[in-house]
Amino acid sequence: MLISLYMDPRTNPYAPGAGTIPPQLAGRSEIIEKAAIALDRCKSGLASRGLLLVGLRGVGKTVLLTKISQETEARDFVVVSIETPENRSLPALLIPALRTAILKLDKIAIAGDMGKRALRVLGGFVSAMKVKYHDIEFGIDLGSESGSADSGNLDEDLVALLMEIGRVAKAKKTALVLFVDEIQYIKEEQFAALIMALHKCTQNQLPVMLIGAGLPQLVGQAGRAKSYAERLFEYPQIGPLTKNSAHDALFAPAARLGVTFAEKAFEDIFRQTKGYPYFLQEWGKHSWQCAKKSPIDEADVKAATDLAISDLDASFFRVRFDRLTPGEKKYLRAMAELDAEPRRSGDIAELLEKEVQSVAPVRASLITKGMIYSPSHGENGFTVPLFDDYIKRIMPSLD
Ligand SMILES: Nc1ncnc2c1ncn2[C@@H]1O[C@H](COP(=O)(O)OP(=O)(O)O)[C@@H](O)[C@H]1O
Ligand SMILES: [Mg+2]
Repeated sequence: MLISLYMDPRTNPYAPGAGTIPPQLAGRSEIIEKAAIALDRCKSGLASRGLLLVGLRGVGKTVLLTKISQETEARDFVVVSIETPENRSLPALLIPALRTAILKLDKIAIAGDMGKRALRVLGGFVSAMKVKYHDIEFGIDLGSESGSADSGNLDEDLVALLMEIGRVAKAKKTALVLFVDEIQYIKEEQFAALIMALHKCTQNQLPVMLIGAGLPQLVGQAGRAKSYAERLFEYPQIGPLTKNSAHDALFAPAARLGVTFAEKAFEDIFRQTKGYPYFLQEWGKHSWQCAKKSPIDEADVKAATDLAISDLDASFFRVRFDRLTPGEKKYLRAMAELDAEPRRSGDIAELLEKEVQSVAPVRASLITKGMIYSPSHGENGFTVPLFDDYIKRIMPSLD
């Protein structure tokens, strides 16, 4: 019996937003378990591969990474989390995170002074990298350990540094786990250095593992950076939720508050959102707001749809769109005109009445900015689901 006659906006459980923890993390238990197995194997010195979660925007990579990192930390691993904004160097991001990691390792009261030494090695790394990367804002003097990780060559120094920390982790019977979000923004040669350092740790059975997430272009970037990357990582595809999981994502949070959805209302939400987590949260939130009582019905969802779309237009879609040049916007608009995947570069150029080569720089910059990716040579996809509809809404005509 459903007794809830009034749906309190204060208790609306749905949580649309980049990186916002959902009220129910639906459909991801398999991958969470996979990560736990890989991590335990790594800690025990057994062969295991890091994970790079790959998927479009809004599928829930960040919240999954957060969930896995929280569980990992609770199981006595040493965890560092890094988000890579565009245009920051990898050393600038790694240095403070690795310092925290070493301090955590140092607190584990076995194996003597190894942590102190690792801090000095990091100190040498900081000084060497500051010469080359001018965005390093790290003022703490950690000393140095002459000849370790201080050559100024990122490849060599990162290998030395991660191996040093790996040795400490091994002696302390734990593992160092790097969680890195938005990996596609790491510059290729810096990513190559990181992959190589992880590779050396693996070869030497040192417990250091990367669990990362990024847009689909990440797979190609890793392969180009180091050909052996494919043996070092698994690339689980994170996609829209299945119907069952989408059902769980919507119904479970409501049920805790005595609210449910009419099945037809759910069908409608699933059809419109295609199971994409971000959209499910948005539709859930607005359906709740529009409903007067439980069960939330089709009319509520209908009213919610316009609100959900206009919220998405004002935030999820727009944040990225605003940063584009007019030429880039035009390219995306032409791409949206082709409604079937894969969208071929040649067809896009034709719509723009240009040569493929002359629009190639625009395409390249859209890939760098994380707006589109290339599923295979000469093909293009949007990194944001339903972006084609959005762009047609705001740019109704091609010119
Ligand atoms: N498994 C899930 N079940 C329900 N909602 C989810 C799930 N994963 C993510 N979400 C919701 O989707 C939105 C986007 O999640 P986020 O992790 O930022 O995606 P991404 O990092 O892939 O762009 C957030 O509002 C989050 O609460
Ligand atoms: Mg994210």
